[in-house]
Amino acid sequence: MLPTGLAGRTVLITGSAQGLGAALVRAYHDEGARVAALDVDDERNRALVAEVDPSGERALAIHADLRDLDALAAGYRAASEWGPVDVLVNNAARPLVKSLWDITPEEWDDVFAVNLRAAFFLTRMVAADMRERGFGRVVNMSSIAGQAPRPTGAAYGTTKAGLISLTRVFAAELASHGINVNAVAPAMIDTPMVRSVSPETLAEMTAQVPLGRIATPEDVARLAVFLSAEDSFITGATYDINGGALMR
Ligand SMILES: NC(=O)c1ccc[n+]([C@@H]2O[C@H](COP(=O)([O-])OP(=O)(O)OC[C@H]3O[C@@H](n4cnc5c(N)ncnc54)[C@H](O)[C@@H]3O)[C@@H](O)[C@H]2O)c1
Repeated sequence: MLPTGLAGRTVLITGSAQGLGAALVRAYHDEGARVAALDVDDERNRALVAEVDPSGERALAIHADLRDLDALAAGYRAASEWGPVDVLVNNAARPLVKSLWDITPEEWDDVFAVNLRAAFFLTRMVAADMRERGFGRVVNMSSIAGQAPRPTGAAYGTTKAGLISLTRVFAAELASHGINVNAVAPAMIDTPMVRSVSPETLAEMTAQVPLGRIATPEDVARLAVFLSAEDSFITGATYDINGGALMR
């Protein structure tokens, strides 16, 4: 990997306790960054942080539910008092695989609150401070589900398409302040979210990947780190990482 200049920088990662989030925590920590890990699952998140950084010097567990904007603001304050946030990774999401005929208003609102509303308000909070310091990197975890929608992805896929749109909006607004904003669009990643689908669906989706396997969390975390590099000339982009499952 090329030098990223992330050593000593503070990175805030949402949805950090497991799956891709946990791999992101490890990847940024390996770069020498200080990692503020925010998740609603406090027990798992604390255990991860203690394992990644037993000294507690370069990793901090923050407990917040992204659906509660006051809790989110308090979580962000805790992170920024620990170290001004240079990199934000909007990674948390809740899946919903359900026929569009069956989605309830509560489910629709909940998926949007976690996947899209929280990303908008947290990015705005963090970017206001990044702007003052003239540097920042934001990585939004989108999905192939936002690019090639399926009938069972009306809510989830639409939030992921929305994140791609938000990425461009923030990138345009913040480019003159040294802040780069990009999205990452993986297909299937080997995480607990995916292990909840049936083996038949998993086999069917793997068969659609020209590279012949699904992504590891580390594949995707490496791309997020790359997009966060200090000297990056990339902004407003959506990076596909799907083994060729969608070529465009
Ligand atoms: N797994 C995949 O195949 C896949 C594919 C494409 C994109 N993605 C995206 O990658 C990201 C990570 O996915 P994953 O598979 O690691 O997910 P996951 O379900 O394994 O982990 C999600 C994490 O987010 C946390 N979280 C959920 N709701 C929260 C809330 N309200 N407040 C705070 N934290 C909350 C959970 O506690 C969990 O630790 C998501 O944005 C997902 O949409 C995943």
